[in-house]
Amino acid sequence: MTTLPKEVTLSIDGLPVTVPEGTLLVEAAKAVQTDIPVYCYHPKLGPAGLCRICLVEIEKTPKLQIACNTVVAEGMVVRTQGPKVEDGRRAVLEFLLLNHPLDCPICDKGGECDLQDYSIAYGQGMSRLAERKELKPKAIDLGPTIVLDDERCIVCQRCSRFDEIVTNERSLVVKDRGQRDVIATATGAPYRSNFSGNVTELCPVGALTSKTYRFRSRPWDLQRTRTTCQQCSVGCALNVDERHGNVLRTMSVPSDDAVSEGWLCDRGRYNVGFYADERRITSPLGRFGDEWVQLSWDDAIELWATRLEEALASAGSASIGVLGGGRLLNEEILLVRHVMRALGIANVDWRTGRQRQASPGARGGTYDDLENAQAIVTLGRPPSQSAPVMDLRIRKAVLRNGARLISIGAHPASSFVPATHLARLSDLAGTLAEVERIAFVWDGIDAALGAEAEAALAKLAAEGKHVSVFVPGETPNARGAEALGLLPAGGALDTRAQLEAARGGTLRILSIFGANPVLHHPAGAAFVREALKRVPFVVATDLFLTETGRLAHLVLPAKAAFEKDGHSFDLTGAVHAVNAAHGAPPDALSDGEVMIALAAHLGIDLPSPRELADWATASPATIANGLGDAALCGSLAPARDGAAGLRLAIAAHPFAGGGTVYFDDRLGELRPRPGLLLSPATAQAAGIGEADLVDLAAGGRVLHDLVATLDGNALEGVVTIVDGLPEAPANDFGEGETVTLGNVRSSRALAGSVV
Ligand code: SF4
Ligand code: SF4
Ligand code: FES
Repeated sequence: MTTLPKEVTLSIDGLPVTVPEGTLLVEAAKAVQTDIPVYCYHPKLGPAGLCRICLVEIEKTPKLQIACNTVVAEGMVVRTQGPKVEDGRRAVLEFLLLNHPLDCPICDKGGECDLQDYSIAYGQGMSRLAERKELKPKAIDLGPTIVLDDERCIVCQRCSRFDEIVTNERSLVVKDRGQRDVIATATGAPYRSNFSGNVTELCPVGALTSKTYRFRSRPWDLQRTRTTCQQCSVGCALNVDERHGNVLRTMSVPSDDAVSEGWLCDRGRYNVGFYADERRITSPLGRFGDEWVQLSWDDAIELWATRLEEALASAGSASIGVLGGGRLLNEEILLVRHVMRALGIANVDWRTGRQRQASPGARGGTYDDLENAQAIVTLGRPPSQSAPVMDLRIRKAVLRNGARLISIGAHPASSFVPATHLARLSDLAGTLAEVERIAFVWDGIDAALGAEAEAALAKLAAEGKHVSVFVPGETPNARGAEALGLLPAGGALDTRAQLEAARGGTLRILSIFGANPVLHHPAGAAFVREALKRVPFVVATDLFLTETGRLAHLVLPAKAAFEKDGHSFDLTGAVHAVNAAHGAPPDALSDGEVMIALAAHLGIDLPSPRELADWATASPATIANGLGDAALCGSLAPARDGAAGLRLAIAAHPFAGGGTVYFDDRLGELRPRPGLLLSPATAQAAGIGEADLVDLAAGGRVLHDLVATLDGNALEGVVTIVDGLPEAPANDFGEGETVTLGNVRSSRALAGSVV
């Protein structure tokens, strides 16, 4: 039986407040809509007691007290306003502003700065300082994403505490003391973190700013729209700020407790430069021989519809394939499914990369289940690579709740919290004997391993343990594509079978929706290219001319995530609204609008808007019961043997890929270089040093000039490369494949992080 926390009643500014015992005064005041000013305090970082701006008067206490670190007590009488409080805050502000440059007119934070706001509310308007102000460094390049203006820093330490408490990366520190203190990295190396942008939001002044946003706008000129991030499957809520039709920044939604807890990863935050990139496709393009010709939408849709009708009449629906969907919204997925079914086309598959499954099966969990697990087991690629904000939950579970983190296979679970590694799934049961709540995180890639894991978890569940499963995948809405039926039902062709049919000359039309199998499908780039070249008519919807789009005969300009309305699932199956925040290029259409146009040409009736909305917002379980026939089928790409040597692990990376990141020039420094990562012992045995150039080979396939990075966290005998890099496509190689390293050359100048 759970016992309810005791409650305490006190008075704040004459109003009675009842809150749970142990509540901090600063939080209790929110219950009566009183905001006590804070700088160093943040609800998710807790109190630090550094700045003293939160002074309040408490009856029977002679001195002012800080509200951020004072716990409520029964009968307490608190005043958050009044002459005594205002005098105290004025003195604090005078101290904080002593050396501050007061450069609000040229400061990016101007208009949304707590120092500016509280100075106006409580400050004294002029300085009594007669001496020269202490000058501190300005515009310090802190790393690839952040600039520090140290003169503006009030040393609240929110940034360094975030880096310690939330990420456990511990690279930011306060260096030196007194008026010479400065925010810096402990080692002097650039500040690199997948979560670096959060410190710009936490900084209550204009000391930390994002390189991508500095000097771009004033906050009052921005138009804000709340939507859901579509860069991965976590489903973080975010605010999109645009000005004069340009997306300038994204900001977290502090109240998004169920998913992101108010944090964003840097991919979700910074990958917005592609919206205005001039390489975006802005009109339908037809390829005739080697020549690309701009087409009107009417001509493009008519061409597609005519080819579909011809193929249906001459070779039947089995000669037509459909790929993609994991990047589409639920409504778009439903429309693709509806139109293709109306034409009798069953060769449909969203799985255009390595991922085979998006559903966690019957044991799907919530993010709270993950946070409250006593043991978290990762199988395959860890969430730090593919679902960054979910990884913050895992770090929280380990750091604050004492959860055990265990990885199985070739990928370590984490570089930032303690973890143990097991070579085989069969080692798992013994290590979980004492544990009641287990979270299992699988990358959805190796179907056979997934089935083996499912059997092991079923056994644990039968022993009465609470098991929750999570499958963070490769594409943001893989869960939607799978639940809503973009799968080959009843013996139809999956992706690989479609590619084989293409190579065999029996596929007449292939329609690809927002996918790039040339770069991502594990059959390998050469295999997929050869397949696409043999299909008489390939249609691709996309933002850019990708490796796949260049082989299509018709390329249709698609709307990007911030340019359309609809819904998507996160990896737990929760549905989120996606709201258009930005005007698309005039001739771009969403994949759903493209389907509506195609249906009109082909005389296909569409579901009513109500029907569409009902299915798009239903839970995956309801959909499974209603839509029914979306059974999983298809097989893994066959494993390929190589010469005896090292085992290959293929990692994801938040900034890899041939799509939106590749076409966002501002993110160049964050993109991983083609490289490989291995443990110091493995490297030594292979005669490889840090930053050496190495060729990686298996069965006649070679990746040249990979830069070696040595990492103490890497597993012995394993060499890791990054998936989805157009400069070094890894989809010619298989996870777990045996590879050899050779042609080692020294190249210190190219040293750097790889994964
Ligand atoms: S840089 Fe900003 S967040 Fe960090 S200590 Fe200074 S004022 Fe606080
Ligand atoms: S974790 Fe995923 S959903 Fe969240 S901000 Fe990052 S990319 Fe977007
Ligand atoms: S907010 Fe209370 S001491 Fe800083």
